[in-house]
Amino acid sequence: MVETTLLVSKIKNGTVIDHITGGHALDVVKILGITGRTRGTVLIAMYVPSKQLTTKDIVKVEGRELKPEEVDKIALLAPRASINIIRNYKVINKKRVRLPDIIKGIAQCGNPACISNSNEPIQPKFYVKSQDPLMIRCHYCSYIMEKKDILEQF
Ligand code: CTP
Ligand code: ZN
Repeated sequence: MVETTLLVSKIKNGTVIDHITGGHALDVVKILGITGRTRGTVLIAMYVPSKQLTTKDIVKVEGRELKPEEVDKIALLAPRASINIIRNYKVINKKRVRLPDIIKGIAQCGNPACISNSNEPIQPKFYVKSQDPLMIRCHYCSYIMEKKDILEQF
């Protein structure tokens, strides 16, 4: 599809998170810790027609670059998202998010009896069984979690 109009304006400096799975823009906003009390321009577009996906969401954050941990969390929800760094209106860096095969530290096991939820100093660890639909399995107790379970934690 040829873009005939620009739905949301370009930003000057900051980050554009593009090709977010349709419907997940507000989850991305939450992961970034952005609330109405956060100063700074944020542009959100949801269910925009897309060439590669049927529809996509876009989040543009002025004046901010993302931390690796934030990018990893976005990868869990939106495995096809791209992170574009913008400086002086130009895209100076574009990369796809990448979901590793093993996830450490960004999600908590949903099984209350899991050793990773005890007082032991054990970092949660999961194997990614499927990216889309997301399915991860706990290394310690084999508990399976899906996207909706992880979203509840963010
Ligand atoms: N963008 C922006 N502000 C800028 C530059 C780019 O908001 N100053 C946005 C574009 O609207 C687009 C994304 O950043 O959503 C990536 O820009 P660009 O690489 O120019 O677009 P495409 O080539 O369409 O990207 P892709 O191939 O990743 O779809
Ligand atoms: Zn577990």
